[in-house]
Parts: sequence; C-alpha cells; structure tokens
Amino acid sequence: MTAKPKVWVSRPLFPDVLARLAEHFDVDAEAVEHRHSADELKRKLAGVDGAVVGLADRIDAAVLEGNTRLKVVANLGVGYNNLDLDALTRAGIVASNTPDVLNESVADYAWALMLAAARRVSAAERWLRAGQWPGSNMRFDDWLGLPVHGRTLGILGMGRIGQGIARRAAGFDMRVLYHNRSRLPEMVERECQATLVSKSELLRQVDYLVLVLPFTPENRHAIGAPELAQMKPSAVLVNIARGGIVDDAALALALREGKLAAAGLDVFEGEPMVHPDLLTLDNAVLSPHIASASEETRRAMANLAADNVIAALGFGEAAGKPPTALNPAVLIRGSAHKA
Ligand code: DGY
Repeated sequence: MTAKPKVWVSRPLFPDVLARLAEHFDVDAEAVEHRHSADELKRKLAGVDGAVVGLADRIDAAVLEGNTRLKVVANLGVGYNNLDLDALTRAGIVASNTPDVLNESVADYAWALMLAAARRVSAAERWLRAGQWPGSNMRFDDWLGLPVHGRTLGILGMGRIGQGIARRAAGFDMRVLYHNRSRLPEMVERECQATLVSKSELLRQVDYLVLVLPFTPENRHAIGAPELAQMKPSAVLVNIARGGIVDDAALALALREGKLAAAGLDVFEGEPMVHPDLLTLDNAVLSPHIASASEETRRAMANLAADNVIAALGFGEAAGKPPTALNPAVLIRGSAHKA
C-alpha cells in the first residue's frame, strides 16, 4: 500500500473540512492558533506535499529554499501578499487563494464599518458600558454623527468586492464614484451606478472612501498624509483591504487633528499590532481583520482551499485543475523535480 500524500494545515480549521482532506491525505492540522516563524514554516513545509496556510504565514524564497517535495500552497484568503508568488512559481509549486466566496460578506462588513464610524457606534457603546449614561444628563445634541443617506461614496479598487459595496449604496440613495486601474464594462458601471474618476477627484469629492485595493509595493501608503490632506474634513475612511495601504501614523494624526472625521479599520500596518495612536482615538472604529468572518463565508473559504489542495495533488473530480490557482503556468509546464 502506498503512503498517502501529506498535507499540513497551519491553523485550526472546521473539522468537516479537515475530514475532506483526510479522505485523501495524511493530515497534520495545527490544533491551536500560533504565529509560525520562518524556521518553523520551512521545517513544516519540507515534510509535506501540500499546505493550507493563513495570511500570517509568510511563504517566501527563504522558506522554500531546498524544498523538493511541496507541490501546492493554498492560502486561506483572497489577498495573497503573504505569498511570494514568483518564488512559488520558480519552485514549481501551485499557489491558490479564495476569491469570490467572500465578496458579499466583505462588502457587508465594509458597510458595517462605514455606518459604525459615521454614527459613532463603538464610542457610544463604550460610554454606555462604562455606566456613564445614568446621571449624565445626556443632551439632545450629544452623540451627533454623520449622515450616510444621500452622501457620496467613493471606492478605491473596484473589483468584485468593490462592486458589491457599490451595489448596496442604492439603498442609501448615494452617489457612487470609483477609481480603478481600468474602467469597468459599461453594464457593470450601470448596475453599480458608479462613475469612474481620477484618484484625486475621488479623494476631494467623497464623504465616504472605502479601500478595496490589493496590497502591492505600489499600493503601499496609497493613502498617506498628502492624500488625506485632499479629503474633506467631514469625510470617513474605511480600510477593509490590507494594512500598509494606509499610512496609519498619518491617519491617526489626521483623525486627532480633525482633518478627517472618522475611520473604520479592519486591517493595520504590521497587524496584529495596531498603531498606538489609533487605539486612543474615539473616532476610529477598529476590528481585528474579520471582514470575511461569517460562518458561511469562512467555511466556503476553507472548502475552496481544500478543493485546491485536493485537485493540485491529483485527486477528486477536478484532479490536476485546482479551481483558483494563482500560477496556472506551473500546472501547464509541470514541475521537473516533482514529476
Ligand atoms: C482576505 O481574504 O484576503 C481577507 O482579508 C480575509 O478576511
């Protein structure tokens, strides 16, 4: 009997998804959350044929060096800036992500942050929980927030998540502007009721700016002090994309000095660390990178990652055709050292 291929799962995952993997593989799944060092990653990946990894696992050339066994790395996330795709491709390793299955949950969450930041939900709750309501003589003009309905929404990065955010804006009777590398097809623009503008027009005109860009070296600090200075002081910034797209220190300063009204942030530069100034600001609504975290969506992401590993290692109906491979060229040319 030939031994089953080995698969490492770097973080605890739904038992039924692990059971699907175990039908084909000898599965080593981490039972507790743990941040793996580069050395640990290198060691773990050296002994397996496939891996399911999380956004905190940085898979780069150094981690892959000397690895002649690994054939597939499935990322639990649509964003894959934790993967060095060139290094994986050079090593003949298939990489995959989890696009589409999370679009609607992330779009929902962008709205949750927008509304919470506009209407000061977190600060008001902190105040209430601190027992400050009784005896406060709360005034009619306390806790005033910003209007959302009828305002202008801007979306920077108009992929499928951005489009989902834009579609929801019709219910709030908002004007929608977007900026993207390329213009959307007319039909999609019509569906989203969205108009393409330059980045600086977007910054200057919107009341709410939602960032949905991928993190690339060019997008680092796409929103920094110069961009924040172009925005209305009454505007709200929402980042559900990636830490590092915003210069968090510049953002904290703008929020403190009243140059920007509020922010809703799900991602941070250097997370899980959060810039200490942001932690002190009542006009920043902060959450720990949970935009995709609904039961249905996280389960779909886990299953899609499993589908990719199963197919890449030659099992199941899609054998040899992992559904969301990021470097399909590896599949076409195959991997010399692993053939
Ligand atoms: C992703 O999938 O990239 C999201 O950031 C996860 O929540």
